[in-house]
This record gives sequence, structure tokens and C-alpha cells, in this order.
Amino acid sequence: MDQHALQVWSSAHLAQVEQALERWVGGDAPAGLGQAMRYAVLDGGKRLRPLLVMAAREAIAAGDGDAQPAPGRQEPALRTGFDEAALRAACAVELIHAYSLVHDDMPCMDNDVLRRGKPTVHVQFGQAQALLAGDALQALAFELLTPEDAGVPAAVQARLCRLLAHAAGSSGMAGGQAIDLASVGVALDEARLREMHRLKTGALLQSSVMMGAACGEASVAAWAGLSAYGAALGLAFQVVDDILDVTQDSATLGKTAGKDAAQDKPTYVSLLGLDRAQAQARDLLDQAHAALGQTALPDTRALAALADMVVSRSH
Ligand code: IPE
Ligand code: IPE
Ligand code: MG
Ligand code: MG
Ligand code: MG
Repeated sequence: MDQHALQVWSSAHLAQVEQALERWVGGDAPAGLGQAMRYAVLDGGKRLRPLLVMAAREAIAAGDGDAQPAPGRQEPALRTGFDEAALRAACAVELIHAYSLVHDDMPCMDNDVLRRGKPTVHVQFGQAQALLAGDALQALAFELLTPEDAGVPAAVQARLCRLLAHAAGSSGMAGGQAIDLASVGVALDEARLREMHRLKTGALLQSSVMMGAACGEASVAAWAGLSAYGAALGLAFQVVDDILDVTQDSATLGKTAGKDAAQDKPTYVSLLGLDRAQAQARDLLDQAHAALGQTALPDTRALAALADMVVSRSH
């Protein structure tokens, strides 16, 4: 699948995700909180994490033969439940991501004023509302994963919650952000920098892939291969984020360029230089493709194209 085909594939899935986010986010929150939540989530972002959920779910569905249900089994209902679970997981991970950006931009963290081409949430609504919007988005993510009457099996709901909670918390994003804040002005070695990036950014991207895989019946090989794919892609994503911070301007990024160096953050570029950071990203892309080859799934084209996009993107 080339990048044009990926765009066609993505736009169909994104329409569904955008519509669901529009419906689910912030409608009835009081005292301006809903407005801040919607501002943080709607009209912006590449939506890479939702796309990874959808692509992994489809790769598993194509591989487990559930297109041809055995007579007497509840396959159509189960399939509908898995579709619903995947849409909910796609939105839930985007909500966690949006919350992480709101908090990441606050003065107590990266102190940024521009995000997705707009003033950051705390600039627009004040710090207290930004803090609460992040809190509320995180809670909403788990509410979306646990519907009472949408046909999603309870075991699938529990598994999705566990995957997302683990990736968002102290073993994942929040833990990585803690390392990031503790590392300002510190020259990390490559192993420690890799660990920081895996946690603060990689974990949530990997969990997107695994949540898609959990919306279906993945074999042991498929689960392991997708996990390795998600790990490589997740790390590649933050290596490229470090690169773009020095190679692009703020208008292209929709966020302030050049701020890693300005804030003395350790990055792949500060540690290795631009050329070797770019070589690392390409190496991780090769690892992601190789991992897809180990899944034994018949159609991983969308996942492969998403990995290509992560490394070739300009914003
Ligand atoms: C930015 O993520 C923050 C990082 C984890 C590096 P994205 O580049 O996916 O941001 P959006 O969602 O497209 O705005
Ligand atoms: C952010 O890393 C990772 C998150 C968990 C939000 P950065 O601080 O590099 O992300 P940007 O560059 O502000 O998007
Ligand atoms: Mg940061
Ligand atoms: Mg930041
Ligand atoms: Mg960055």
C-alpha cells in the first residue's frame, strides 16, 4: 500500500473516529469544562493512534477467518461487538493522547503556547481548566471502553482497559514524562534515552496496536509479532519527533519548533546528531516491517504503510 492508498484507507476510518469523538466528548460537562475538552480533542491531530487500532483490528480479522462463521456459532454478533470495541478503543487512546498533550504543554512541564496550530489549552482556558480537561479526558477514555449495552464482551472490555491503563500510567506515558522532566540538562546515554522514549511515547502507540489485536482472536505468533511491531514503531515515532523539532518550522509542525534544544532536553538528535538519528529511525522502520513478517497474518498492508508514514512524515 503506497501513501496514496493509505490516505484513501485512512479517510474512511477517520470519518468514523471523528464522528464518534464529536458525539462522545464533552457534550454535557459543566462550567466550560466540555468546551476545553472538545478544544483539546476535536479539529486536529494526525490520529495515528486510532488508525493503528483500526489497522491491527483488521489485520487480525483477516487472519482469524471470522469472515466465514462456523454454523451455529455467534460469529456475526461477536464481530459486531469487536467492531464496536475497536471504535471505542480508537477513541479512548486518542483521548489519553490528547490529555497527555494538554498536560505536556502546561507551564509546569514544557510550557508551550502552540499545539495543533492553535493556542494550547491552558493559554485558551487557563491552567486549572487545562488540568481538569486532561483529568476528564483520561476518565472518559475508560468510560468509553466499558459500555453496558454495546455488545462488547466483558472480557474484551477488561483487556482493553488493562492495556490502556498500563500504557498510560507509571509504567508508560506518565512514567516516561517523569523521566523527561528529571532529565532536563542531563546527558542520558543511549539506553536511558531509549527507555525514556519507549515509555513516554512508545507505550501508548504500542498499546494502540495491541488494543486492535485484542478486538479479535490473535494467535500467539500474531500477538508477539504485533507487539514487536508496536515497540519498534513507537520508538521510531519519538525519534522522528526529535528530528522534526530541529528540521521543521513551527508552521509546519503546528507546535513550537526548536524547543528541545531551547529547553535543554536530551533527544536522539542531541545525543547522536541528525544523521545518526535519521539512520536509527530507518533501522527501527526495518524492525517494524520484519516484525509484521513474523505475525503470519495474511494482510498487514495498512500497518506497514502506517509505519512508513511515521518515518517519512513532515509533521
Ligand atoms: C505528539 O504526538 C506528541 C508525541 C508523543 C511526540 P503526535 O505527533 O501524534 O501529535 P498529533 O496528535 O498529531 O497532534
Ligand atoms: C511528549 O513528548 C510526549 C507526551 C507524552 C505528550 P514531547 O514533549 O516531545 O512532545 P511535543 O514535541 O511537545 O509534541
Ligand atoms: Mg514533553
Ligand atoms: Mg512537549
Ligand atoms: Mg517533541
